[in-house]
Amino acid sequence: MLETIPTPGDTSWFTQDRFGLFIHWGLYAMAARHEWVKCHEAMTDEEYEKYFRHFDPDLYDPRAWARMAREAGMKYFVVTTKHHEGFCLWDSKLTDYKAPNTPAGRDLLRPMVEAFRDEGLRVGFYHSVIDWHHPQYLIDPHTHPQRRHPERQQMNVGRDQGKYAAYLHGQVRELLTEFGPIDILWADYSFATDQPEGKGRDAWQSEKLYAMIRQLQPKIILNDRLDLDEGWDVKTPEQYQPRQWLRVDGRPVVWEACQTFSGSWGYHRDEASWKSPEQLVGMLVDTVSKGGNLLLNVGPTARGEFDARAQERLAAMGRWMKYHGRSIYGCTQAPEGFKTPQDCRLTYNPRTGRLYVHVFAWPTGLLHLDGMAGRVKYAQLLNDGSEIRPGLNHEAIAQRADMGADTLTLRLPVRKPDVLVPVIELFL
Ligand code: GLC
Repeated sequence: MLETIPTPGDTSWFTQDRFGLFIHWGLYAMAARHEWVKCHEAMTDEEYEKYFRHFDPDLYDPRAWARMAREAGMKYFVVTTKHHEGFCLWDSKLTDYKAPNTPAGRDLLRPMVEAFRDEGLRVGFYHSVIDWHHPQYLIDPHTHPQRRHPERQQMNVGRDQGKYAAYLHGQVRELLTEFGPIDILWADYSFATDQPEGKGRDAWQSEKLYAMIRQLQPKIILNDRLDLDEGWDVKTPEQYQPRQWLRVDGRPVVWEACQTFSGSWGYHRDEASWKSPEQLVGMLVDTVSKGGNLLLNVGPTARGEFDARAQERLAAMGRWMKYHGRSIYGCTQAPEGFKTPQDCRLTYNPRTGRLYVHVFAWPTGLLHLDGMAGRVKYAQLLNDGSEIRPGLNHEAIAQRADMGADTLTLRLPVRKPDVLVPVIELFL
């Protein structure tokens, strides 16, 4: 078993639970064309104000969201308390730019936290350290909506990034003191440069922020985006599947892939590159087979719903998880020495000593497991608990002729079981 670098926060539950829901919800849901819309279209605060004035998620039902997440098999959630646009979902005392001052007229975060807790999920806050609305935030030439404004330099005169940092720290203090125990703080993100407007540990005063975070919530899991060399718990590869267990300085670390259903985090009406349920299950399996977690994102609509495409996919994943949660929860990369068969992914539960073969492309008749002869006491399909027998017939022997004596051959039903990704459970 791979030992990860010890984490300052409590990751013991995290590496068991494996599967979480990311929620990106803010004013950008109204534009419905990416959460970076203010930047992409270089909108001014005045131009963006129309969203603030009209934000009215009348169908918002956090209990329904929480139920869908639980039924999908997710064990925790991480929600954008504030994204780069600067808009706050909760009733912060430090700003007027918040949900209670829109037509929504109320704190939208608190009922969400309660609803998810009631469904048994752990609570995580995504908080953008980037802020395109705050008047003291230095306009940088990289991400800020006004980055190409001819008077950008002059616009920065009188801005004091230190004052913004104080605001940032104050808001994080609110989030970590007013909502009970918080399991994850997902800060996003840093881009240190040697320019004064670069946004790294100096711009955020990350060391000081870090000390406060640990003082307020010692067990909290902190991600890796505050530009700190030490103190973070989790590495967060975004929108790609790493080829192997993530390492830092050669040592394996706790990690979490964050992925979208389609290309956008915020609700995107016209985006068409939605992954299929099979791909999504494949992504979850692939992640756990490399010792990681999957944080899968929904961008709710401006009326406060998960749109039909997201609901369908969550439901499909839930149907799969109902039968195959055993190969995900508490599981991790298989110990060294187990060779992954063609078109498969392995996961392993160190507590029960069971190995799970996820078959991405169903072979005809036989599945060959090199190095496994004599190591398996019993094998079954996970979806229905039906026995899978070793291939002792002529066909198997013939096909095995060119294989090593250590190959275990399993006889599979001709028809692929009617599940997105079939799993064979091996009792070692
Ligand atoms: C990014 C993006 C963003 C998204 C996030 C999720 O850094 O700026 O919009 O929230 O990653 O990982």
